[in-house]
Amino acid sequence: MKAKILVIDDDTSLRRVLEYNLQEDGYEVQTASSGEEGLYLFGQSQPDLVITDMNMPGMDGLMVLKSIKERSPETLVIMITAFGTVDVAVEAMKAGAYDYITKPFNREELKLTVRKALEFNGLAEENKRLKSELSDKADFRTIVGSSKEMEKIFEVIRKVADTEAAILITGESGTGKELVARSIHANSSRKDAPFVAINCAAIPRELLESELFGHVKGAFTGAIRDKTGKFQLADGGTLFLDEVGDLPVELQPKLLRALQEKEVEPVGGAKAQKLDVRVVSATNLDIDKAIAEGTFREDLYYRLSVIPIHLPPLRERRKDIPLLIRYFCSKHGSEKVTFAKDALETLVMYPWPGNVRELENTVERLLIMRNGDNISHDDLPDKLREGNAPGGALIKLPDEGYSLEQLEREVVVAALERKSWNQAAAARFLRIPRHTLIYRMEKYGIVLPGNNQR
Ligand SMILES: Nc1ncnc2c1ncn2[C@@H]1O[C@H](COP(=O)(O)OP(=O)(O)OP(=O)(O)O)[C@@H](O)[C@H]1O
Ligand SMILES: [Mg+2]
Repeated sequence: MKAKILVIDDDTSLRRVLEYNLQEDGYEVQTASSGEEGLYLFGQSQPDLVITDMNMPGMDGLMVLKSIKERSPETLVIMITAFGTVDVAVEAMKAGAYDYITKPFNREELKLTVRKALEFNGLAEENKRLKSELSDKADFRTIVGSSKEMEKIFEVIRKVADTEAAILITGESGTGKELVARSIHANSSRKDAPFVAINCAAIPRELLESELFGHVKGAFTGAIRDKTGKFQLADGGTLFLDEVGDLPVELQPKLLRALQEKEVEPVGGAKAQKLDVRVVSATNLDIDKAIAEGTFREDLYYRLSVIPIHLPPLRERRKDIPLLIRYFCSKHGSEKVTFAKDALETLVMYPWPGNVRELENTVERLLIMRNGDNISHDDLPDKLREGNAPGGALIKLPDEGYSLEQLEREVVVAALERKSWNQAAAARFLRIPRHTLIYRMEKYGIVLPGNNQR
């Protein structure tokens, strides 16, 4: 069934562009030239998605959004905002917009945002169904994100999920590596076969070999019966080797053989078993360093990482934060909770050393501790508020240390965002000459938004 999209924009040519591009992707499109007309059509045709311009004479985008959300909270609304109006975008997200696109945008950006929103809608309904079926064990496998960084990852997942290629997922703790691994499995033709996970860092090395490959009775003292390994359990499905960077060096040749020969030998067993297993692995270690230090075999690394997927830390894709917050609210049954503007801004600007996991825990705690349905800046945990308090520590460094270059890059981007990407203003804000700012931007590959090379 074709998804129905309602486009509301007072700018005739932009309306045509939107209509044309969306029709090209097979959607049924209706257009309206004002907020009032849009709402009328909305009542008539019940579209799946509404795309509305923010700035319109008469009823503006925010008013349209609010009345749509009142009538039909499920309907997804995407806002079109003017370049440099982050505040407005944040306000729209707060009022329940699913996402926003900043003018000028390119067609790919538009199409991806729309596709993502409609997929999200499908998944949200699927989740609701699952939730009612399983009540207490709702299983959320949705990866939320609309940043360019995450879009790239979705594209890779779509492309490689249904292949046999080994995938290595890297990224800091809490960035969603396991979630991505599960979604690769769920999007492959192996989805009805088992997804078996093993954490190579959590199992003592003496036990790890038989956990992975199994053992036969009598293989060693204490092996009182045959044991099936994770490899055998995953036959026909996917084996997720979590924290693979911590795999002891002496087990690495055996894993390499299993991958090359597609067969495993249980400990103490005489003959190898042929298996059909797709391997996805993950690590938050710096594998290049481990290879240089000789704790990880280079040949094994190449076997495991035919397709590498790197999940950037949350602080490098802040656009996802408002969306994730909304998602976690509804995941925890609190769709109607709203966030005050300054509270949301602080949540967006916090560096999140524990990434999405830390964000989810924070939201969950806020939902439990709240008095009422609006969360204010005062409700935020101390460590978030302190970062913002005048005279308080400006940054909170993670315990494991932090790269000064990375920090500098973030400060430059933050200043540019604050000053709507006006370089002269950002340079003044940072108290450096403009050419120094431009030099830093080049050094870190920071490109003005809207430049298609990004
Ligand atoms: N993009 C996302 N959308 C929704 N939920 C997410 C997203 N990324 C992470 N999460 C949630 O955050 C939590 C942490 O994710 P996950 O366990 O996949 O991280 P990880 O990278 O494997 O972390 P670690 O290295 O510590 O094992 C999970 O509850 C996961 O569902
Ligand atoms: Mg993990």
